[in-house]
Amino acid sequence: MSRVAVFPGSFDPMTMAHLDVARRAAALFDRLIIGVLHNPKKAPLFSVEERVAMIQAAVDEFGQNVEVSGFDGLTVEFAERNGAGFIVRGLRAVSDFEAELQMAHTNRRLERSVDTVFLMTALEFGYLSSTLAKEVAQFGGDVAGMVPAPVAEALAARFPSSRSGT
Ligand code: PNS
Repeated sequence: MSRVAVFPGSFDPMTMAHLDVARRAAALFDRLIIGVLHNPKKAPLFSVEERVAMIQAAVDEFGQNVEVSGFDGLTVEFAERNGAGFIVRGLRAVSDFEAELQMAHTNRRLERSVDTVFLMTALEFGYLSSTLAKEVAQFGGDVAGMVPAPVAEALAARFPSSRSGT
């Protein structure tokens, strides 16, 4: 039986913590679809198309079983459309747990056949967030090692004068 999982998120932008979870999930499942949520409630730095392209470049080395796509609406419906029985989420610290527990229960309530699988983010990336990476880049800090190379390039292009402090 083929095990298919979705890894949904905002990924605005993808960090090394996300990439670490994606890499390990790709090894656990036969097929992994990374889903970039189009969230009308948020004003993202990068468009869904830009985020999908950056993630595609970052996961290129993972192999054929990883796909990236944008999605609207409910995560469980995105999972069903892709024939996925699992939702992958990363946990960085205990502080993530409460919201993730709520989401996992909501998703299970909506669709009993879809289970959430949590992977603990690697210790060295446990402090990272997309918000933090954007702030560092915006004020001219070095984001190398915090985000995948294609994301670092996109952030540098988005905040071109930030290194000179202007
Ligand atoms: O990267 P994020 O912002 O922590 O990801 C949150 C995400 C996209 C997984 C969550 O907001 C989500 O699943 N949104 C889709 C709408 C949905 O299914 N809501 C009900 C379950 S929480």
